[in-house]
Amino acid sequence: MLRSRISSFLINHGRNPIRNFSANPAVRGRNPVRSISANPTLIQPRRQPIKKFEEIPTVGLLRSNQVRAISTNPALNLKEDSEECPVSSYNEWDPLEEIIVGRAEGLTVPNLTVDIKSIVSEEHWDFFQRDAGKPFPEKYVQRAIREVEEFCNILRREGIVVRRPDIVDWAKVCETPDFKTAGQGSAMPRDLLIVFGDEIIEAPMAWRSRFFEYRAYRSIVKDYFRRGAKWTTAPKPLMSDELYDSNYPVGDTEESERMTRQGKFVVTEFEPCFDAADFMRAGKDIFAQPSQVTNFMGIEWMKRHLEPKGYKIHIVTFKNANPMHIDATFSIVGPGLVIVNPARPCYQIDQFEKAGWKLVEAPKPCIPDSHPVWLSSKWISMNTLMLDENRVVCEAQEIDTIKMFEKLGMEVIKVNFRHANSFGGSFHCWTTDIRRRGTLQSYF
Ligand code: ALA
Repeated sequence: MLRSRISSFLINHGRNPIRNFSANPAVRGRNPVRSISANPTLIQPRRQPIKKFEEIPTVGLLRSNQVRAISTNPALNLKEDSEECPVSSYNEWDPLEEIIVGRAEGLTVPNLTVDIKSIVSEEHWDFFQRDAGKPFPEKYVQRAIREVEEFCNILRREGIVVRRPDIVDWAKVCETPDFKTAGQGSAMPRDLLIVFGDEIIEAPMAWRSRFFEYRAYRSIVKDYFRRGAKWTTAPKPLMSDELYDSNYPVGDTEESERMTRQGKFVVTEFEPCFDAADFMRAGKDIFAQPSQVTNFMGIEWMKRHLEPKGYKIHIVTFKNANPMHIDATFSIVGPGLVIVNPARPCYQIDQFEKAGWKLVEAPKPCIPDSHPVWLSSKWISMNTLMLDENRVVCEAQEIDTIKMFEKLGMEVIKVNFRHANSFGGSFHCWTTDIRRRGTLQSYF
């Protein structure tokens, strides 16, 4: 604080604060000499020449609570101390202030590998085989783009800041030492990014077609980081063949249901992997679903990362032959209020009943069979977005779901999203809430 006051004094008096403090942000503090003396790697001669900005060491040398203390370093473009952290969210229902909304632009058909087969309905396999690496049908992409634009405008009219990922050429083939793939898209930020308080975590993902997806969000995440957010990237998996069980019984069959009940998925335990959308936040309690994209090692990584910070991760499982993402299965929409999927009963439902939570069964989805839903089930009907405890964004044609929310006393904001639905999700999947007005609380 003191240093910041000195900096603004110096700025106000036309002097560059950098010249008056060490150029190395890692050694700056009230007394730069004292603060570096304990760490031999940081010791520098006192009369060291001023470094040019591009030579300034990375912020990786800093402890997180020092981020604010370097905020006037122009090389890092960090903002003033007075600005509140732009990232702050603890649950799915506090009043929404800022959100990332995905893009349909460039959506590309992934290769039909065993992990994709475990999710994609068999009726679409021919299409995936034929069109792998090519853009999804233009007509659907264009309509989805228009729907998503309208959704963004509706959010803006509610006073919510909307951020969008960069446009990326997802059809470009990328290669790592372990695999080669075309990309898929940046439609579903919920799968990649998740916020816990002032920290934004990038999930490792599990599909090769999504390995590079983080790149579309880096401009936004760097901006949040510069403005004070914590930024964590979970370990990047190799995604070599060992991560996938090539003999896995894919499809919506009894055998695959038996496998998932036993905790066996198409992803092995070769290395941690998870999609962020397998985690649902309710303040201090976080509910995690092991799935075809989230293994136990991935959940363990999240546990070790978050539990020392006061969170508790609960593993929850459901009767489901092809689980992937918890938000069309168990959707927490308020403090102790959950929309549950009647086709996917929860094996640990007792604990929610004991906690006095209200569990409301979602009505059947209304999506007609003639409408393609390439990358999810029709249960994305229950994949809604809460603007606050009393207002929910719902697909305009999901009449029964709308009625259910109205019965719960909520105001329903109806948005046409059918073509956006074709690509694997609805309003929850297509977004990552970045800031909600609220604090960390216990509800369970
Ligand atoms: N993959 C999730 C489902 O279809 C959204 O249920």
